[in-house]
Amino acid sequence: MSNNLLTVAYIVASALFILSLGGLSDQETARKGNVYGIIGMLIAFVATALSPGVTEYGTLGAVVLPGAVIGAIVASRVAMTSMPELVAILHSFVGAAAVLVGISNYLQPEQSLTPVETTIHQIEIFVGVFIGTVTFTGSVIAFGKLRGIISSKPVLIPARHLLNLAMIGACVWLGAQFLGTEVPSGLQPLLIMSAIASVLGIHLVMAIGGADMPVVISMLNSYSGWAAAAAGFMLSNDLLIITGALVGSSGAILSYIMCKAMNRSFISVILGGFGTQTDTAAAKDGNQPTGEVTSTTIDEIVELLRSVNSVVIVPGYGMAVAQAQHTVSEITKLLRDRGVLVRFGIHPVAGRMPGHMNVLLAEAKVPYDIVLEMDEINEDFSKTDVVLVIGANDTVNPSALEDPNSPIAGMPVMEVWKSNTVVVMKRSMASGYAGVENPLFYKHNTRMLFGDAKKNVDAIVGKLAQHSEESVELRQPKEVVLST
Ligand code: TAP
Repeated sequence: MSNNLLTVAYIVASALFILSLGGLSDQETARKGNVYGIIGMLIAFVATALSPGVTEYGTLGAVVLPGAVIGAIVASRVAMTSMPELVAILHSFVGAAAVLVGISNYLQPEQSLTPVETTIHQIEIFVGVFIGTVTFTGSVIAFGKLRGIISSKPVLIPARHLLNLAMIGACVWLGAQFLGTEVPSGLQPLLIMSAIASVLGIHLVMAIGGADMPVVISMLNSYSGWAAAAAGFMLSNDLLIITGALVGSSGAILSYIMCKAMNRSFISVILGGFGTQTDTAAAKDGNQPTGEVTSTTIDEIVELLRSVNSVVIVPGYGMAVAQAQHTVSEITKLLRDRGVLVRFGIHPVAGRMPGHMNVLLAEAKVPYDIVLEMDEINEDFSKTDVVLVIGANDTVNPSALEDPNSPIAGMPVMEVWKSNTVVVMKRSMASGYAGVENPLFYKHNTRMLFGDAKKNVDAIVGKLAQHSEESVELRQPKEVVLST
């Protein structure tokens, strides 16, 4: 393929990636956005494989084919709830790729560079390997935290910010040593920097608590984009630079939006919890919920639902685990058929990834127009008869607003307790992802319906449907027997 054709293919692929991002910004166009992305990637791959620089087709096939097969198997088997883990580990691959490209690029320099070009090229390599290493180790730790292999609690060692600063300072000094060296004597500072950047990546993510993990994942997404862009500079590949910049900037924007939604400082999160309490014990000393927990039964809830005019359903991670979305869709239909106003309230970080609840509800064919964002529904709770909290916990925790010592203090939450009655469906009194006690369970208007969300919603649907049939039967005109 000629260089001109290659440029045209790269421009088309870049345009498709931009269209893809545009499509993904809305639930109704997301599928189309995905298709644009797939076509763009296919064009990018085929054009690169046919470009003049690629000659070793045997090696290319030997790595691409097994990679494609493994990727397809893993992606088709992954459960929706494990998607963030998959994303985290995929980010780590991008980071590792940038490191390997950087090191091999250093060991095999282009002969025709002027001294200035050589310096620029070495800076690209050094920065690319630095970002790649931080992305790699940070993403592996994020994967471990999401999987539950590593505790989601923040590890806050004393003077951690000074330590981070010292590590960054050491990397800058090593960078100065690296510049201008002949191959292979620069390998030593490059590898020492990689070792320090590995520790930095681990330390930055270990210091971040469970509640901030979504931001970390999208931040690592952004880092992986910048690592890819750096690899693009090293390889003089324009498409990789454009794609990397798109991923890098969109990831950073998403992180910023999420920080705003969680009332977190963007800078504090990306600097490994800068400005958060050094001592988690102080946070634990925050108000422990007191009072009595009132549990309820299926029959009571069915009776309650038969007498209400408005219901808001607030789903969370537990609905995804129980795979209760289809039954939740049925209960919605049954209530709407009875003339009840049913709406959904979705917290921006409900579940384990952005848009998690929206995807599940769309899959269960819940109409888009009754699925509202937190800001759209929060004011309406005080006018709502019943709120059904299905497998949500942190996102409905009043301590975020009421207890300044709470680890999630300041995070905007769904203010469900303002409604007449709140029914919380979960299996136990266990805390949610952030590991924080929830005073909602002790409020006077809260009823706890313990058990698996799907089983409970199934049982409610069964009884509600029975009542609906009975009321239809009651409405049938009775056969009149005339006396003779
Ligand atoms: P969580 O606070 O994680 O609570 C989920 C609750 O579901 C648990 O307390 C659990 O209680 C219950 N549950 C689990 N399995 C269940 C089942 N089969 N049936 C019924 N209940 C079940 O959920 P949330 O309110 O959605 O909040 C999300 C949390 O995850 C936030 O802290 C957020 O920061 C974090 N996070 C979010 C993301 C994104 S981007 N969305 C990514 C990573 C982390 P039991 O064990 O008692 O049943």
